[in-house]
Amino acid sequence: EPYLQPGPEPTLHTQEAFSPESNFTAKWTRADARQIKRMSDPTAGSRQNSMPEEYTMPDIPQNFPDMSNEQVWVWDSWPLTDENANQYSVNGQEIIFSLVADRSLGFDDRHVYAKIGYFYRPAGISADQRPENGGWTYGGLVFDEGVTGEIFEDQSYSHQTQWSGSARIFPGGEIKLFFTDVAFYRDQNGGPDIKPYDSRLALSVGHVHANKHGVRFTGFNKVTSLLEADGTYYQNSEQNPYYNFRDPFTFEDPAHPGETYMVFEGNTAMDRATAQCDADDLGYQDGDPYAETVTQVNASGAPFQIGNVGLAKATNDDLTEWEFLPPILSANCVTDQTERPQIYQQDGKYYLFTISHSTTYATGITGPEGVYGFVGNGIRSDYQPMNQGSGLVLGNPTNLNYWPGSPFAPDYNQHPGQFQSYSHYVMPGGLIQSFIDTIGTKENFRRGGTLAPTVRIKINGDSSEVDYSYGVNGYGLGGWADIPANLNVNSGGQI
Ligand code: FRU
Ligand code: FRU
Ligand code: FRU
Ligand code: FRU
Repeated sequence: EPYLQPGPEPTLHTQEAFSPESNFTAKWTRADARQIKRMSDPTAGSRQNSMPEEYTMPDIPQNFPDMSNEQVWVWDSWPLTDENANQYSVNGQEIIFSLVADRSLGFDDRHVYAKIGYFYRPAGISADQRPENGGWTYGGLVFDEGVTGEIFEDQSYSHQTQWSGSARIFPGGEIKLFFTDVAFYRDQNGGPDIKPYDSRLALSVGHVHANKHGVRFTGFNKVTSLLEADGTYYQNSEQNPYYNFRDPFTFEDPAHPGETYMVFEGNTAMDRATAQCDADDLGYQDGDPYAETVTQVNASGAPFQIGNVGLAKATNDDLTEWEFLPPILSANCVTDQTERPQIYQQDGKYYLFTISHSTTYATGITGPEGVYGFVGNGIRSDYQPMNQGSGLVLGNPTNLNYWPGSPFAPDYNQHPGQFQSYSHYVMPGGLIQSFIDTIGTKENFRRGGTLAPTVRIKINGDSSEVDYSYGVNGYGLGGWADIPANLNVNSGGQI
C-alpha cells in the first residue's frame, strides 16, 4: 500500500445497501478525495509521475496506430452488452459504438459535432494475432442525418450532437441504443449560447445484421426521449446553463429481478449561483486537525463543482418509460463531472465506476484524469471509495505537484502521460479501454482520436491494482483498441 503523506482521514463508509427507491445518496467527500493527494509523492520532480504505480495506467507510447485509418476522430466507445455487462459478438463479428467526428475539425472542437459511429471486426482472434491498430473496420454513422434532432421542440438549434451511452442486445438481434441527445443553441458564429444547451437521455431501437462480410444496422430511424433533468434530483439548465446530464448505462440487479436500472452523469440540483456544500459533503471525522470548515469551502468556489451519479428505473418492459430515483453518489465540492458511470458486479459486490477529468476538481482537490471506483453491497449503498478511501482506481501518469495544463497546451512540468487517455470503461475481467487524448510534453505532443491500448486491473474487495503482467505490448499494455467480446450470439442474435 502506498505511503501516505500527512492529511485528513477519509470518511467512514459502511458499504451498507439501501433500497434502490430510498433517498440515501452516498457521498464522495472532500476528506475521501483528499486521500488522492496524500498518495502523491511531494518530491517527484518535473515530468515525473507522483502517483503510486498500482493506480497508474502504464505509459502509452507516442507512436500509436490509428484505428480508423484516419477516417474519423474516435473517442468514447462502448460495446454491445447484455443486462450483466457481458460483451457480445454477433455471428462472429465484434461490434463497438464510438463517438466520432470529422478529421477536418480540431480535436477539441469535436464535442459539438459528435455523432455515434460503429466499428466491427472478426471475433475470436487474440490481440497478438490482430493488426496492430486493432483490426476494426469503420462501418459509418448509426443514424441518418436529422433523426436525432427530431425530439427537440425548439428546432432552431445550431448544433445537434449525439453523446455517449450504451448498447444492449436482445433476442432477434434487436439493439436498444441508449445515448445522450443534445441540442446547442449558439449564435451564428458558433460563439456564445443564445440559450442553454438541451441534453437528454434517449433511446433508439434497431436491428443488427452481421455475417462474415460485415455488419450493418436497420431501424435506428426514430428516437424516444427518456429523461430530462428535473431540477429536483438532477440540476437542469435553469439552475445552471452548463449542467451535466448524460451518459446512460442500463443493467439489471440480481437483488431486484425483473427491473432494469440506469445510471447516468448528473449534477446535484442546486442553483449555480447559490449552491453550498455541507458538513456531510466535507466528511471530516471529529477533531481531524486537517479538516476544513464548511464556511471556508463554500467561500473557495468549490460549490461550482457538484457532480453526481444518477439512478433511474424503467417502468415498462420496452424500456421506453423511466422514472428518476435519487442519485446514488454525489461529489459535492469534489468534482463537477462524474462521467460515463457504470455498475460492475464481482464477488457479490457492486462497483460503481465513473471517470473524472483532472481539471473538473473543486478548489483544494486534485487528482489524475482517469477512472474512479466505489464499492458497496447494493446498487444504492454507502459506497466506499476504493483504494485507501480515495476513489482512485486508474489514473493517467501525472504529477500532482504541478498544474495539470490542458490537452492542447500541456504544462511544462507535467508528465507526458497527463492527458494520455480518458473515458475509461471497465469491461469483464477487469479489462479497461479508453481513448487517446494527448501524449507528450509541452514542446512535443501528439493528439489522439483513437483508442488506447487496453489494460487490466485486478479488483480485490475495496482495492485494485494495475496488472503489469497483462498485455501484448509489454509492461501492462494490451492490444490497441482491443474491446473483446466474452460471449457470441448466433444468427439473428439469439441470446
Ligand atoms: C470539454 C468538456 C469536457 C467534457 C465534455 C462534454 O469541452 O466540457 O470536460 O467531458 O466537454 O461536456
Ligand atoms: C481476446 C479474444 C477476443 C475474442 C475472444 C474470444 O482474448 O481472443 O479477441 O473475441 O477472446 O473468446
Ligand atoms: C466523456 C464525455 C462524455 C460525453 C462525451 C461528449 O469523454 O464528456 O461525458 O458524453 O464525452 O463528447
Ligand atoms: C440505415 C442505417 C444508416 C446507417 C446504416 C448502417 O438503415 O441505419 O443510418 O448508415 O444503416 O448499416
